[in-house]
This record gives sequence, C-alpha cells and structure tokens, in this order.
Amino acid sequence: MPARIPYINHFITGKKTTGEYLRMQEWMGKFYLKDFFCKFDQINNFGRFLEIGSGPGYQTTLVKEKYQPRELIGLEYSTDMIRVAEEYCWVKRISDNIKYIHGTVEDKSLIQSLGRFDLIYSTFSFHRWSDAIQGIDNLYKALNPNGILFLYDFYRGGLFYYLNVNRGLWESVRASYRPEDVRQMLTTLGIENYFIRHKGLYMDLVVKKEG
Ligand SMILES: C[S@@+](CC[C@H](N)C(=O)[O-])C[C@H]1O[C@@H](n2cnc3c(N)ncnc32)[C@H](O)[C@@H]1O
Repeated sequence: MPARIPYINHFITGKKTTGEYLRMQEWMGKFYLKDFFCKFDQINNFGRFLEIGSGPGYQTTLVKEKYQPRELIGLEYSTDMIRVAEEYCWVKRISDNIKYIHGTVEDKSLIQSLGRFDLIYSTFSFHRWSDAIQGIDNLYKALNPNGILFLYDFYRGGLFYYLNVNRGLWESVRASYRPEDVRQMLTTLGIENYFIRHKGLYMDLVVKKEG
C-alpha cells in the first residue's frame, strides 16, 4: 500500500497564492467539483450548513446558489483565504447568511461554539488536517439528529501518487487517505453509520447521525 506522506504546510496562505487558487477554481471548478455536486444532490439535506476548509469561497457560492441553506458557515484557518472568500461572495451578491470563521477543525471548543448543523461538508481539505480523528469527532458531535457529514477528497494511490506532474496535486494525493484508513478512524470513534466510496482520483465519506 502506498505510504501516507503528511503535509508539512497544512494551510494555504499569501495574497498572491490565494488569489491564484480562486482563479484556478473559476477555471477548473466546474470540472473537478462535478462528481462532488452529483453526490451532494443525492444527500439532499437542508437547513444549517458548515463547510470546512472553505478556501477562497468558490464552492461556497455554488452551494449557496444551488441549495439555499438557511445559514452557511465557512471555517478556514487561512485569513488570506477568508479575505478572498468574503470579497468573492460580496462581488457575487450572495453574502446573505454566509459567514466565514477563522479557526481549525481540530479546535473542539470552537466547533462546539458554532452550534449544530444539518450538513457539514468539505472538499479537498481533509488530507491537510493535522489530526483527522479529532476533526471527525468534533464534526460528528456538531451534527443535528439525522445530520450528515460529507467529506470529499483525493484518494491515496493511482498514477498521481507516483507522477509529479503537478506538485500541488502530487503532494495532496500522497497526503490523502484510503478507505481502510478512514474505516479505522471511524472504528476508533465508535461511528457505525457511514458509507465510503472510492472513484478514480477521489474518495468520499458520508456519515449519518442517527435521529
Ligand atoms: C486544498 S484547499 C481546498 C479549498 C476548497 N475547499 C476547494 O475545494 O478547492 C484546503 C483548504 O483547507 C484549509 N485547511 C487545511 N487544514 C485545515 C484545518 N485543520 N482547519 C481548517 N481549515 C483547514 C486550507 O487553508 C485550505 O484553504
């Protein structure tokens, strides 16, 4: 099994880098987030949403437009990303009911202070968390009854694990998890009601909290 090589710099910072990341998302997002949104359509939960590692806000605005959550909070550690995301939402005129919070998914008291959610989701951030088990535990506890946790990320394996065609992608794939890693984390936490799917370059986890 290809060994996991964790990230050293977990967060994406710098005004130039975060602006470039948004431009990359605008250019390629419809393509690489297509499968994520297909899955999101099936989940079909409404109400209060929490997005982890919201980055420059591109997918936040798509989620807001498409699913009209009552409230949407983006949690992000990079203040540069938050600045770009807030500006992007303002330009798109969809800032209503969207709030960005500075912090990490591992911060138990911060997550607790945000209240309960009907849907917690994340795209391409899970592999960067410094403590994935703590992160999942915090998020699971922040779900309302029947609430859903949906983590969408890369899968560790395949050609991109070995081929350094794009440094960012290569490092991300190498730092990502495999279904067996995630299963082990969920067993440690005593979480049983979940579904893990691996599809090509991607892997996702859906956890449902019993009502
Ligand atoms: C690769 S970007 C993904 C951005 C966006 N979600 C997307 O799909 O393109 C990962 C983001 O997660 C943030 N991040 C990484 N670890 C985090 C943590 N432990 N808590 C909160 N945000 C984190 C990074 O700062 C970065 O903005």
